[in-house]
Amino acid sequence: MSKISAAITAVGAYVPEYVLTNQILETMVDTNDEWITSRTGIKERRILKDDGKGTSFLAIKAAQNLIDKNNLDPKDIELVIVATATPDMKAASTASFTATEIGATNAFSFDMDAACSSFLFGMSVAASYIESGRYKNVLLIGADKMSSIINYKDRATCIIFGDGAGAVLFEANDEGLGLKDEYLRSDGSGREFLQATYGGSSHALTAEVLANGGHYAFQEGRTVFKNAVFNMADAAEKILKRNNLTKNDVDWLAAHQANKRIIDATAQRIDLEDEKVMINIHKYGNTTSATLPLLINDYESQLKKGDNVIFAAFGGGFNWGSIYLKWAYNSKN
Ligand SMILES: CC(C)(COP(=O)(O)OP(=O)(O)OC[C@H]1O[C@@H](n2cnc3c(N)ncnc32)[C@H](O)[C@@H]1OP(=O)(O)O)[C@@H](O)C(=O)NCCC(=O)NCCS
Repeated sequence: MSKISAAITAVGAYVPEYVLTNQILETMVDTNDEWITSRTGIKERRILKDDGKGTSFLAIKAAQNLIDKNNLDPKDIELVIVATATPDMKAASTASFTATEIGATNAFSFDMDAACSSFLFGMSVAASYIESGRYKNVLLIGADKMSSIINYKDRATCIIFGDGAGAVLFEANDEGLGLKDEYLRSDGSGREFLQATYGGSSHALTAEVLANGGHYAFQEGRTVFKNAVFNMADAAEKILKRNNLTKNDVDWLAAHQANKRIIDATAQRIDLEDEKVMINIHKYGNTTSATLPLLINDYESQLKKGDNVIFAAFGGGFNWGSIYLKWAYNSKN
C-alpha cells in the first residue's frame, strides 16, 4: 500500500484595495522611498482601512477566492486552520467564524500562531492530519491584519508590514506529491526582540499603556535581521542536504517576505538563481502569515506538476524552518 502524502491542490488569495506607498509613508514618518527600497525591497503594501473588519474578513475573501476558482463545495471541507498572529479577538477563534462564513459547515476549525512562521508550521499540521489518514482535506489560510498592531508613528515597523491573506487546500495524494520533508525550530530567548508586549495575559492593557502605544508591535530590527538571515538560510540548506537535493533539483524558493535582503541571503546560501526565487515583497511588504500563500498564488500559473518547491520562514518567538514540497498540478488556467 502506498503511503498517503499531503499535496496542495488549490490556491486563493486576497489583499485589500488601499495601497500604502512609500511616498505616502514619507508624509507620515521621517523616511524616504530610497531608504525603504534599498533596505527592504518594499515599494508598497495593502491596508484594510475599515476598523470594523478584522483578519477574518481577509481570510474569508481568500478562502472564497480559492473555492470559486476551483468550483469547490465548501461542505466537503473537513478542517479549516487559520494561521494568524492577529486574530479577530481573544477566546473566539477566527477560524470558526471564517469556516461558518464560507459555508464549511461540516468542518472543525482552529487558529494557529507562530508569528511569521504561522503558515509554514500550519503546512506541517495540515499535512499531518492528512498523512495520518484521519482527514482527506484541510483548508489552510494564512491571514493577518498587521495594521491593527502597527504604530504608524514608528518608522522602524510601519514601513515593513502590510495586510493580506492566502489560502491553500491540502488533499491526500497517492503519487508521492506534496509535503516531503520539514525542518522546524523555535527559540523563545528571541521573544524580547520582536513582540507586542501589552494586551496578552502577562502584561495588562491599562489606559497608560494604551496612551503610550504599548499594544503595538515592537522590534529590534538589527537583531531580528541577523537571526532571520542565519536561521532561514540554515534551515533551507539543511532541508536540501537531508534530501540530497542540489540547486539544480530546486525549481522554486518560496521564502517569507520579510526583507528582500533576507530572501537574497537565503537564496545565495543554497546558490539559487534569481529566476527561481519567488518575490512579491515589493507589492505587499511583510504580511506575516500571508506571505507564503500570497507567493504561491502569484506564481501558481508558473508552477508545474512535480516541481520541487523549498519553503522557508522566520518569525517572532523566534520560530523558523524550511519545508520541501513537490508541487501537484499544472496550471488550471
Ligand atoms: C528594520 C530594518 C529594515 C532596518 O534596517 P537596518 O539596515 O537594520 O537599519 P538599522 O535599524 O540598523 O538603522 C540604520 C539607520 O537607519 C535609521 N532608520 C530606521 N528606520 C528608518 C526608516 N524607516 N527610514 C529612514 N531611516 C531609518 C535608523 O534610525 C538608523 O539611523 P542611525 O544610524 O542614525 O542610528 C531591518 O533591520 C530589518 O529588516 N530587520 C528585520 C525585520 C523583520 O524582518 N521583521 C519581521 C521578522 S519576520
